[in-house]
Amino acid sequence: FTVKVNEPVAPIQSTMWGVFFEDINFGADGGIYAELVKNRSFEFFKPLMGWSVKRKQEGDILVLSRKEATNNPRFLRLTARNAVKGDLELTNEGFRGMGIKKDLRYDFSFLYRQAAPGITMHLSLINSKGESLGQTVIKPAESGAAWHKQSVSFQSVAADPKAKLYIWLEGTGVIDVDMISLFPGDTWKNRSGGMRGDMVQMLADMKPGFIRFPGGCIVEGVDLANRYQWKKTIGPVEERQLIMNRWNIEFPHKAAPDYFQTFGLGFFEYFQLAEDIGAEPLPILNCGMACQFNTSELVPLEDLDPYVQDALDLIEFANGDVTTQWGKVRASMGHPQPFHLKMLGVGNENWGPQYIERVKVFTKALKAKYPDIKLVNSSGTDPDNERFNYLNGELRSMNADIIDEHYYRSPDWFLSNASRYDSYDRKGSKIFAGEYAAHAKITGGTNNVNSWRTALAEAAFMTGLERNAAVVNMASYAPLFANTDAWQWSPDLIWVNNLQVYGTPDYHVQKLYSLNKGTQVVPLTWEGKALAGQDSLYATAAVDEKTKELIIKIANVSAKAQNNVLALEGVKKTATVADCIVLKGDLESVNSFEKPDNIAPQQSTVAVKNKKVALTLAPYSFTVLKVKL
Ligand code: AHR
Repeated sequence: FTVKVNEPVAPIQSTMWGVFFEDINFGADGGIYAELVKNRSFEFFKPLMGWSVKRKQEGDILVLSRKEATNNPRFLRLTARNAVKGDLELTNEGFRGMGIKKDLRYDFSFLYRQAAPGITMHLSLINSKGESLGQTVIKPAESGAAWHKQSVSFQSVAADPKAKLYIWLEGTGVIDVDMISLFPGDTWKNRSGGMRGDMVQMLADMKPGFIRFPGGCIVEGVDLANRYQWKKTIGPVEERQLIMNRWNIEFPHKAAPDYFQTFGLGFFEYFQLAEDIGAEPLPILNCGMACQFNTSELVPLEDLDPYVQDALDLIEFANGDVTTQWGKVRASMGHPQPFHLKMLGVGNENWGPQYIERVKVFTKALKAKYPDIKLVNSSGTDPDNERFNYLNGELRSMNADIIDEHYYRSPDWFLSNASRYDSYDRKGSKIFAGEYAAHAKITGGTNNVNSWRTALAEAAFMTGLERNAAVVNMASYAPLFANTDAWQWSPDLIWVNNLQVYGTPDYHVQKLYSLNKGTQVVPLTWEGKALAGQDSLYATAAVDEKTKELIIKIANVSAKAQNNVLALEGVKKTATVADCIVLKGDLESVNSFEKPDNIAPQQSTVAVKNKKVALTLAPYSFTVLKVKL
């Protein structure tokens, strides 16, 4: 192969490799949002979902609803008369259990009001045998008609992946309770009410160029009433109105009737997360259309104004100074500095002329006020069908800033589409490969498992994304997270349970691309042509002007080792030793909680002699070679 080191073809955007976050597979509630109590405010469709109550003695536990207008009307009224242990009890099962670590602080809080004080609450985390993993006592002090918040922290003494929160009442009195909450003390950046540190770390480790949020289909909602509305996800947590999750569905593999979005993780937290991990925020908003794989409910064009206003207000929320209406709200939440929003998505996988009509209305209003904000529009999923091509054509003729293409296809499709973007017009709309994943079956096993087969096909395909950085400006695998006990969609990049996290082989591919991005594409050819499948090899080359490195990425998708010589042209001298990072394995190999590093990068070095590198590419391998210039 020949690499022309001094002939840059196109800049690689800092946003090139990013992440796509959606609350699917218990990604947010029950996942990255570290709240351990399920249905803490009793607002799920069934008010006591997630809770079990026991009333042995006189006394009662009633579900009531506030008379005043509020986003969180329900609460529990607990009435106790001379109660002792075993009389009046409340137990919360968590999101498929609560993952409890040994010797960690747990922060409990709740809202209450009591007309007749006198109840003491005994809290403990218990294992399946009912043994205590840590406990404390709380005696609510205030009385009267006003609501108060009380918090207490306690230390765990043992670990359990499937614990429960058990509360029993002692004494005589009447108390109303709401927002019963429990967080571990080791959240990301130790923020109270924050995110799971181990999950955020997996993202931070990737150094993603952007984070797209909050989805996905949840942007659209099952119907418009259940669409994602960012204004309902900010401000005090107890005032955020929950909705049913779009993925609260009877999928054949894992039903999730208890899947709701509580919005403890809302738009402020998403922006903050983006800032924390150095990623550009990319929010996607509903365009006036509910999920077309579902109800297909539409807002009439003449009633679209509030949706457009939400988009305008979001830009002010992110970027406006503290004197603006929405900038002030951001500041009141603790972030007076702007979040520097540069891109905004309108619609997700919506289709038909109805989508184009709505995009035109949004574009006119947004560009009039914020001409520098880049707008992302979706041409949806399934790139070979009519619907996709129609949207692509329409969006291109409108000169859309960025077109978001999705593909969930077989590994073979990914291999045969590595040249997909070679023919795309460089001058027109840019491309965001916003959701993609190879879907394959493990021989004799389950469908849609993340294996080295899927990851290698993606690695090969991604050489074509990087090679075409002139038109492809952004890409993200999807979905991002899955809880092993509560997923609706597979494969997924990162799998979690209540206490553990592991990256799939696909995660390692994404991470290698992102950490070894480069700033300029340079030509890598074999017999005068880009290497995109000849002899089962796929390659791309980039120069990093900051680190002064040449970075080559090569996928060998064949069963045989291949020896090649890489000739570096247009460079006076190089280091004599290059770093080599390799992912390789049997195509059926998977990572797991037990073997998280089954497929993981292996580091070595190779010699560079007279501007030549003799490469041995292992069977079924992906190699990243880094030569100091
Ligand atoms: O990533 C899972 C789903 O796939 C997304 O919610 C949707 O945009 C696509 O259909």
